Order: sequence, then structure tokens, then C-alpha cells
Amino acid sequence: MPDPEISYFELQAYVGTTKHMGGLETTKELIELCHINKGSYVLDVGCGVGATACYLAKRFGCRVIGVDIQESMIARSEERAQKEGVENLVEFKVADAQNLPFENALFDAVLCESVVTFIEDKQRVVSECARVTKSGGYVGLNEELWLKTPPAQVVERVRHIWSIKPNILTLEGWVELLEGAGLSNIVARTYKFDARRESTQVKRYRFEDMWRMFYRTLFLYIKSPAFRRYMAADRYLPKDTFEYLGYAIFAGRKP
Ligand SMILES: C[S@@+](CC[C@H](N)C(=O)[O-])C[C@H]1O[C@@H](n2cnc3c(N)ncnc32)[C@H](O)[C@@H]1O
Repeated sequence: MPDPEISYFELQAYVGTTKHMGGLETTKELIELCHINKGSYVLDVGCGVGATACYLAKRFGCRVIGVDIQESMIARSEERAQKEGVENLVEFKVADAQNLPFENALFDAVLCESVVTFIEDKQRVVSECARVTKSGGYVGLNEELWLKTPPAQVVERVRHIWSIKPNILTLEGWVELLEGAGLSNIVARTYKFDARRESTQVKRYRFEDMWRMFYRTLFLYIKSPAFRRYMAADRYLPKDTFEYLGYAIFAGRKP
């Protein structure tokens, strides 16, 4: 059980689900933009509980490594790979996105879904992703952004609810990071929050994952005062938040 004061990511690892905006539908678009196929060797940076890494192995039969800074995420990812029967194709490691433990030019594609937003030194992460990508390969990101300049109250609430410590970027800010990492042919697609697309979050998980998420949340609520404090903390969002907060997928090619 996460202990004693629950962090956003510890809680997600414990219940066994992580997410990014746009769910599976957006993952599929990112995969397409990064030209991933059966022969690709893929790195998923900030893999969370391993949903995208296992999906890639199952759908394409390609080899994938997932890394995450949190050991509990890696433990969940390994369980998932076993349960989904892809442990021969997928490997997981604890690693910091800012210092990837891989040689230069190793992967055909490097994905990061809702990870760089949470890290202060974003340029370092995107440059690390580019460093470990082969020439002709792709770096693909799915990250939160401001669609237009938000009022201070929206900024404060969004950062509080999702535990985002660094500043959230604009579209131009993200593109500059990809350019700064030496990537070319940059494609960016921006999205507004859309309930239909978000509903594809659940397609990343199996029925038993959803069931576990439900009973673990309930168990925590009953057993853990820290979790009850977390849930009771002031968690509202201004109703126009999604006028300002959106997300985008980006793909850049390593020359
Ligand atoms: C919002 S979750 C997204 C997880 C996953 N990509 C998904 O789409 O389900 C962000 C993940 O990034 C991981 N993370 C945060 N900072 C990191 C860092 N410096 N290096 C590696 N992973 C990191 C967190 O532990 C968490 O699993």
C-alpha cells in the first residue's frame, strides 16, 4: 500500500492504471506517425504500468523496452507483460528519462506519453530521446499544452490536480524542444479534450485491470487515512479548464 502520504504516481501504480490524454486512439495515431512496425525496436519512456509497451508487442510483434523512474510502475509493467503473454518481446527497467541508460542510436522509435510535462528539464529529456534514436528513426510525444493563455486560477488548479510542478508549455514551446534536439520533419497535431476520445482510455486495459482498480481504490479508501485525506483535498477544476488545457502529439525524425 502506498505509504504514508500518497503521491499521484504511487497511487496510480498501486491501483495498476496510468493514463495520458486521448487514450488508445491517440496512441494509435502516434504509432502511425512514428512508422512503427513488426521490425521496429521501440523505447517507451515513462511507460507507467506498461499498457502501451504491451500493446505494441501484441499488435505488431515488435521488441519494446519500457522505462520508468518508479520501481512500482516497473513491477506492474512486468506483471502485465506476463499476463498478456508478451514477456518474450517486452522488457522493463527503472530509469530516469533525463539520463537514459542506452547507447546512442539504438531504437527505431522512442515514445513518451504524458511524461515530459512532469519534468522540469524538458529539453534534456527530448534530447535524450533523440540521442538513443537511430538515424531515420522517430521520436514521438503526447503531451499536455495550453491551447491559449489561461487565467492564473486555471494554471494553479491544473498543476495542483495533476501534480504538475513545472510550467505547462504551448505548441510553439514543444516544437522548439524537438527542434532543439535536432529532430526534423516535425509533425504536430493538437487536440481539445473530447469525452469520446477519452473513453478509449479503458481500451488500454483488460476487464480484470478495471476490476482491480475498483477494489484497490475501495480497499485504500477503507484502510488508508492518507488516501482519504488525498480524496478529500480540494480537487475541483474551473468549468472552462478545457478551453485552455489540451494536448498534442508530436513526431520528429532523426536526420
Ligand atoms: C501520466 S503517467 C503516463 C504513463 C504512461 N506513459 C501512460 O501513458 O500510461 C507519467 C509517468 O511518467 C513517469 N515519470 C515521471 N518522471 C519520470 C522521469 N524523470 N523518468 C522516467 N519516468 C518518469 C511516472 O512515474 C509515470 O509513470
